[in-house]
Amino acid sequence: MDWGMKNRLARIIRPKTKRTVMLAVDHGYFLGPISKLEDPRATIAPLLPHADAIMLTRGVLRTSVDALSSTPVVLRVSGGNSIVGKDLSNEGITVAMRDAIRLNVAAVALSVYVGSEHEHQTLLNLAKLVDEGEEYGIPVLAVTAVGKELEKRDARYLSLSCRIAAELGAHFVKTYYCEDFEKVVKSCPVPLVIAGGPKLDTEFDALNIAHNAIERGAAGVDMGRNIWQSSNPIGMIKAIRAIVHENVSAKEAYKLLEKSKKPKELARSS
Ligand code: R5P
Repeated sequence: MDWGMKNRLARIIRPKTKRTVMLAVDHGYFLGPISKLEDPRATIAPLLPHADAIMLTRGVLRTSVDALSSTPVVLRVSGGNSIVGKDLSNEGITVAMRDAIRLNVAAVALSVYVGSEHEHQTLLNLAKLVDEGEEYGIPVLAVTAVGKELEKRDARYLSLSCRIAAELGAHFVKTYYCEDFEKVVKSCPVPLVIAGGPKLDTEFDALNIAHNAIERGAAGVDMGRNIWQSSNPIGMIKAIRAIVHENVSAKEAYKLLEKSKKPKELARSS
């Protein structure tokens, strides 16, 4: 791997632990102003110092993130779809590599929709992006998207998607946690990070998923809703960090989260 590519990846996946806590706030690119991300700056600012990298679109980066921030940026460069449109898989590349470089990104991210109507198009998007990434030393994160079909998230399907993404040259892959997740990890030759998915019933559930994924070989998380839709987003990202970088159990991480609650929140939850 060339120096620039290696250096950028090392800014995201910390060399000391070989893991990362990425904060995902790119949801608006097809979901619009979803709950707790209506004002991106207000959501992002307090969490930014606790993230190893932030994943977002260029619009939110330019309007809602301080340019003096040193948190590495993973720029979403695919889109062209919306939650109310016909087909979520109908994505194209939305940002020129030149603009990504101008924004000093550490990596670019794009979704692939294996098994969908637009499988071919999204996989060729990935291959094109990898060609450009290789040319300029910019790592590519492939996101194995499932659209609205959340039931697709089993080890067989995710192994297929992750492997295809890696074969096409993705430098790291974002996928979902699933039963037999270790099979997905084993058959993917590049680091895997997991998304959190829609907000789970309890914070413990989200910590448990993060812990299980790490234990089964994930290189970290790229989590959004289960952090910033929590009633205690900072406590939540710190608890996730403890799991990812300090190997604490989900129970220990939950204790840390409870300890970090402000007295007012404790009164509300009792
Ligand atoms: C998908 O819409 C986005 O790429 C998100 O970055 C990804 O799903 C991770 O966020 P969450 O943990 O909220 O699922």
